[in-house]
This record gives sequence, structure tokens and C-alpha cells, in this order.
Amino acid sequence: GQPLATFDPGFVNTAVCHSSITYIDGEAGVLEYRGYPIADLAEHSTYLEVAYLLLHGELPNAAQLAQWELEVTEHRMLPDKLKTVLAGFPYDAHPMTILMASVAAFFSFYPDAQNFDDPDARYLNITRLIAKMPTLAAFAYRKGKAKPYINPDDSYGYCHNFLQMLFKQNERRYHADPRLIRAMEVLFILHADHEQNCSTNAVRSVASSGNDLFTSCSAGIGALHGPLHGGANEAVLKMLREIGSVDRVPEFIEGVKAGKTRMMGFGHRVYKNYDPRAKIIKKSVEDVFEVTGVNPLLRVALELEKHGLEDDYFVSRRLYPNVDFYSGLIYEALGFPPEMFTVLFAVPRTSGWAAQYQEFITDSEQKIVRPKQIYTGYQTRSYVPMEARD
Ligand code: SDX
Repeated sequence: GQPLATFDPGFVNTAVCHSSITYIDGEAGVLEYRGYPIADLAEHSTYLEVAYLLLHGELPNAAQLAQWELEVTEHRMLPDKLKTVLAGFPYDAHPMTILMASVAAFFSFYPDAQNFDDPDARYLNITRLIAKMPTLAAFAYRKGKAKPYINPDDSYGYCHNFLQMLFKQNERRYHADPRLIRAMEVLFILHADHEQNCSTNAVRSVASSGNDLFTSCSAGIGALHGPLHGGANEAVLKMLREIGSVDRVPEFIEGVKAGKTRMMGFGHRVYKNYDPRAKIIKKSVEDVFEVTGVNPLLRVALELEKHGLEDDYFVSRRLYPNVDFYSGLIYEALGFPPEMFTVLFAVPRTSGWAAQYQEFITDSEQKIVRPKQIYTGYQTRSYVPMEARD
């Protein structure tokens, strides 16, 4: 007899937890972190303030924020031996692979992360991870370019320091431009959390068997890498480049409608309306292009969006631009190669994964993740000796 269970591939209609961190109304296109609308946070907040909000549930006062920023600054450096791990990868290793392996390796350097029931140990390792992700991302990028690593500079804030670790020698070009640092801050705020998305579900699932933060978040990085999830921002630029010009958009749209390909950066499991983050990023593109010059692929993206919002194929399926549709245009304008785009998603999403991990670990309702299945294989049958086989 089959177990009593509802068949629900991808958990489309399954709520796996109670959570108080992030709220999405997919019909209305609403996103709130701890009750604060994403547009307000993008306008007024900073990434570290949002990370604090996600972790603690409240906005910090001035003293709490200063203390938090100091703690994060103190933990920016990577363990020296991790450079040996990085050196072991081929020069063209995908930075998401390097990130996933390195975050898992953090557990070897910080084994006290296993004491996740101790709030102090848990908080220390969450701080370490949030602090080290930009350094790790920058080192992975510099390795790919066969350039020397640039250490964190404590005189810079979180996002400015990240840009200087990546592009220092271009500093005089524009990476210290406050408009670009603010664009990075806004992108990090927008990517920080998104309730039970594929990668957060992976983090919670690995945590459920009693794992530390690093092991659990390395699983999240793996899930995020996929082109249907965080990898979509890299796939969008590839798509825009392949289309190449506005007059080739109709042909591409026909290909999508024939089911030959997908419009990457479009559609969402929850949003059946315009992704509020995409709206904000689209505006941010204009601010960035004021500094860097316009990326001609923006025109292709705008034409694709126009078709996507008007053509019945997309309208009937309620497909809209999502967070990944415009972000790659900014990353490319900032000088990042496409393989770094998903890394730029993983860095800020680390604070969301950490907040969700913390909520899971302290949630008395939670059990090891072990779903049911509907069995469709053979009924019971007898073993066949070799001589009796065809
Ligand atoms: C992120 O979950 C999150 O919150 C994720 C995220 C986060 O912050 O963590 O928001 C980040 O991952 C954003 C999504 C990035 N992915 C992409 O842009 C890749 C392209 N989009 C899709 O593959 C798709 O829309 C998903 C993966 C995002 C959602 O998939 P679903 O909910 O499982 O929907 P589906 O694949 O069942 O599609 C429903 C229908 C299908 O058509 P029919 O079979 O009904 O005829 O819509 C079609 C799909 O073919 N469809 C698309 C499409 N997305 C869905 N057709 C063309 N282009 C697309 N982009």
C-alpha cells in the first residue's frame, strides 16, 4: 500500500516551515525583510544593516550597527592555508565551484561551528562567514585572472572594500565612485534573502541532519549555481549576447514560444507579477551607466522585456522579469566577467542563508528533511541466477 502523501514535485504547494524572516506576496509583487518593504531598505539602508535586521529581527541602533560593522571588519581575512586550497584549482575553475569548496573547507578551520546550539559560537561563525565571503569571492576572481590577491582594507566599508579587493589597480578608473559603491550596496540588499528559495531549502535540508553553518551554506552555493536559480544572471548576459541586436529579438521570442529555449531572467515560482527587485535594479542600471557608459545590450534587454510583457505566451503564464534579468548588465558594466555574476548573488545571499540556518537550528518544530515518494517501480520478484539470465 502506498503511503498517504500528496504528490508535489518541487514543493510547489508545500510549506515546509514557519518563518518570520522574509515575506513575499507573489500575486502583488511584494517583498519584505522582517516587515520592511524592500524598496525602503534599498533606498535608505546598507547591506550590513540589512544583514543585522535579517539575523536579529530589528534594525540596529547606531551603537549596535557600529559594533556589528567592527566585528565583521575584524573577520575579513581568510585562513592562510585556504590559499593552498584555492591554488589547487585549475586556473579556469568556475568561481562558484571554488566558493562552494572553500565554504565547506571553512568548517576545517573553524570546527567550533559544530557547536551550533551555543548562541555565541553560532554568532561568531555567522559573523566569520558574512565577513569572509567578499574576500573569498575576490580571491577566486583574482586567481582566475592570475593576479595577486589584494587583502581587505579596513578603512573601507563592506562594499567599497569588496570592489578594491577585486579591481584595486582600476581604482583610479571608477571603482571608488560613490555611485557604483551605492549600486553594489543596493544589489547586495536586494539579494540578501528570499524565503524558501531553492538554495535556502538546500541550506535548511543539510542543516536538518545536524550540520554546521559552513557545510550547510556550501550546499546552498551548489543549489544557487544552477542556471534556473542564481546562475540565471550569467545565463541572461549569454542570452543577450547571442541575440546580439534588437532586430533579432522577434526571432528569439518565436524560439521561446516554440519551446526551444527559455527567456532567462524571466518567470518565477512565486512572483506572478513584476519582481520588485527587478524594478529597483532596472533603475540602478541607469545610475551605473551614468558612470560607466551605456552597455548596448541594455536595448536588447528592454526589447525582450517589452515582448515579454505584451506577448500572450508570457502573459498567460504570468511571466515577468525577475531579479536576474537586469543585474548582469550592472555586473558587466562594473567590470565583472560573466562567471562572477552568480558569485555576486552568493555573497549577499549568505546573510539570508545564515538567518534561515539560525531560524532552523532554533526551531523546535523542525526535523530531519526526509520527504516521501510515490513508488512506480517493480513489484516484489525473485532473484534470477546468472545462468537463467538472457
Ligand atoms: C531566482 O525561488 C526564488 O525565490 C529564486 C530567486 C531568489 O531570490 O532566490 O528569486 C532567484 O532563482 C530567480 C529565477 C531565475 N531563473 C531564471 O530566470 C530561469 C528562467 N526561469 C524559469 O526557468 C522558471 O520561470 C523558474 C525556474 C524561475 C520557475 O520555474 P517554475 O515555477 O517551476 O515554472 P515552470 O518551469 O513550471 O514554468 C511554468 C510554465 C512552463 O510552460 P508550460 O509547460 O506550462 O507550457 O512557464 C514556462 C514553462 O515552460 N516558463 C518559461 C519561463 N519560465 C517558465 N517559458 C519561457 N521562458 C521562461 N523564463
